[in-house]
Amino acid sequence: MRKGILSLTAAAAAMTLGLTACGGEGGDTNAQTSAAPSGAASQPAAGKVGVILPDSKSSARWETADRKYLEEAFKTAGVAYDIQNAQGDKNQFQTIADQMITNGATVLMIVNLDSGTGKAVLDKAKAQGVATIDYDRLTLNGGASYYVSFDNTKVGTLQGEGLVKCLTEKKADKPIVAELNGSPTDNNATLFKNGYDAVLKAKYDSGEYVKGPDQSVPDWDNAQAGTIFEQMLTEQPKIAGVLAANDGLGNAAITVLKKNNLNGKVPVTGQDATVQGLQNILAGDQCMTVYKAIKKEADAAAALAIGLAKGEKPAATGTVKDTESGADVPAVLLDPQAIFFDNVKDVVADGFVTKEELCTGDFAAKCTEAGIQ
Ligand code: BGC
Repeated sequence: MRKGILSLTAAAAAMTLGLTACGGEGGDTNAQTSAAPSGAASQPAAGKVGVILPDSKSSARWETADRKYLEEAFKTAGVAYDIQNAQGDKNQFQTIADQMITNGATVLMIVNLDSGTGKAVLDKAKAQGVATIDYDRLTLNGGASYYVSFDNTKVGTLQGEGLVKCLTEKKADKPIVAELNGSPTDNNATLFKNGYDAVLKAKYDSGEYVKGPDQSVPDWDNAQAGTIFEQMLTEQPKIAGVLAANDGLGNAAITVLKKNNLNGKVPVTGQDATVQGLQNILAGDQCMTVYKAIKKEADAAAALAIGLAKGEKPAATGTVKDTESGADVPAVLLDPQAIFFDNVKDVVADGFVTKEELCTGDFAAKCTEAGIQ
C-alpha cells in the first residue's frame, strides 16, 4: 500500500516539477528529471528528495561537507533535490518540511534539532506517503524508514581513548578531567558520552584520573560552551584534560585555555576534522579529533533516497535500536577514525580538507612537519 502511495506521489511530483520553484534560501533544485525523455513512459517517474540540515554553527560540517556531498550524489544520479538549512530554528524546520512536501518531495531526509520536533515532521511526511530518512541523528520514537550515520558510541570511545593517550604522553598525574558534552537533545551526544564515559569511568574508578566538571552544551552552541568552560576553569583551575564532544566545543575550551596560558598543556579532544580542529591539532592546542568520512555517509544516504525516489525498496546494511520506541530501524552505520598530529595527513589524502585551506600562514611549517603533501 505504501508503495502505491509512493509511486502516485512520485508521478504527481514529476508532473509539477517543471513548474515548481523549489529552493528558497540556500535551496538548490536540480530539475533534470522533469524533462522525461519521450518513450520513457514505462519507466517509473523519479521522485524528488528534500533534505533539511540543522544549522551552520554547531559544526562547520553541515554546510561545508554534507551539503556538498549530498548535492554531488543527487546531481550524478539525475534525481531532483532540494537541500535547505533550518539554521537552528525548530519552527523554520517544520515550515521547510511542509514546503518541501507541498512542492512534491517524495523522500524527506532530516537531521533533527531534537527528537520531539523531528518526530512531528516525520509523522506528517509519513501521513502523506513521503518516505523518510534520519540523517546522522536518530529521531527517537520517530519511526523513520532508514537511519544513516556513524557508529556514534565508537566515536565517543575514540575520544575517550584519545584523551587517555594524550594525558599519558604528558605523563599527567591524577589529572582532573572536564567534560563538555554535546546537546542534551541530540541522541548522538548521548551515544558519544556513553562511549567516552565508559573509557573515563574506568580511570576514575581506579583512581588514575579525577572526575571534574561535566556539563552538556545546549544546541552544541559554541559561544555558550566558552562561557561554560570559563566557569569550569574558574571553579576548578587544575583541570588537566578536556573531553570536548566536537571541534567547535573544543575550540571554545582552547580559547579559554589560551587566555590562561594553558593551551597545549591541557589536552582537548574534538570531532569532525574541521579545518579549525585540524589547525588546533597542528598547533599543539588540540590533542585529537574524530574524522568521519562524510562523503561516505552522504553517499549512503543519497543512495537510499534515490532508490526510494524511484519507488524501490533499498536495502540497509543493519539495524539500530530506537531506545525510546524499541523499534529496530534499518540502518547504515559507518566507521569513524581517530586523528592525531601524525595522521592529520590522512584527512587531506582522503580529500576531506585541502592542503590549501589547512596549511595557511604559520600552519605551513606545521603541515610540513606533519608530512602533509
Ligand atoms: C554530529 C556531529 C556534529 C554535532 C553538532 C552531531 O549530531 O554527529 O558531527 O558535530 O552534531 O552539529
